[in-house]
Amino acid sequence: MNNEQSTHKVGVVGGDGIGPEVVAEGLKVIAAAGVQLDLTRYDLGGARYLRDGVVLDDGTIDEWRGLDALYLGAVGSPDVPAGIIERGLLLKMRFDLDLYINQRPFVTDSHDFVVIRENTEGAYVGEGGFLRRFTPHEVATQGSVNTRHGVERCIRYAFDLAKIRRSHVTLVHKTNVLTFAGDLWERAFNEVAADYPDIDTAYNHVDACCIHLVEDPSRYDVIVTDNLFGDIITDLAGAVSGGIGFASSANLHPGAVSMFEPVHGSAPDIVGTGRANPTAAVLSGALMLDHLGEFEAADRIRVACSDPDSLTGTTTEIGDLIVGRL
Ligand code: IPM
Ligand code: MN
Repeated sequence: MNNEQSTHKVGVVGGDGIGPEVVAEGLKVIAAAGVQLDLTRYDLGGARYLRDGVVLDDGTIDEWRGLDALYLGAVGSPDVPAGIIERGLLLKMRFDLDLYINQRPFVTDSHDFVVIRENTEGAYVGEGGFLRRFTPHEVATQGSVNTRHGVERCIRYAFDLAKIRRSHVTLVHKTNVLTFAGDLWERAFNEVAADYPDIDTAYNHVDACCIHLVEDPSRYDVIVTDNLFGDIITDLAGAVSGGIGFASSANLHPGAVSMFEPVHGSAPDIVGTGRANPTAAVLSGALMLDHLGEFEAADRIRVACSDPDSLTGTTTEIGDLIVGRL
């Protein structure tokens, strides 16, 4: 695509651990694919927090609303208590920018499915608290918030996506135990399905879905599920699709600034060793190019990454291999 007239405004958050290493390769591949980006770098993550206490302020979020996309490496640092960066940076991005779709594609020689994970609700909202904390009678509750609006827009997105794929949507939940949330999800799913008579549907309990993902993932086209189930099954889906080093994701608010990141974490144990596989970040970059309307470059990047077994070497060597195949 000729991109000389328009440059896309992209905010880059390398983040923690291997995040900056894989993002560098992703940006290298995008440039080699001929797409020009107007980049603004944001120094955020565990190291920044330890330096001056900043996780993510509202001014930065407001600045991001004026961008086309955000490209993120990974966040989370062993030097910072669990949750501070995850909730304060990554989840704040997802929630404040209302990135209500977390789209995670899984493609191998034998299967091709995509998980649509609800990305702003469920157990992730932080509902709950402690009673009598640090006593022998302490109580912790952690609720799951499911709004009809949030659930329905996610399900509709999944059905719209299925229309341009293989016309099949599977709802994954645990309606046999989570009878309140499950009931809302199931009714919303069935009512949306009535608007899409040409789309076939299925329902799997999340535990059964785990078996199918291992034994017969080719049964799936589009899976739609809640935030926590989606988090868990996409790690499993990554593991059966060449490994988490190939799993990409898009955090979308269709029509507005959206965020693109590999499914994997910051892997502090291998930082600086050159062992991080940048392919997931590169493929997340391709999803970003889809969002930016650069479909041809995005497809060329996907084709260049399509033989995962041959993508071996150090982080930068793999980036160079992909560039060489564009
Ligand atoms: C993911 C990650 C995040 C999540 C963590 C880092 C908060 O595991 O994107 O899947 O749980 O959503
Ligand atoms: Mn996860």
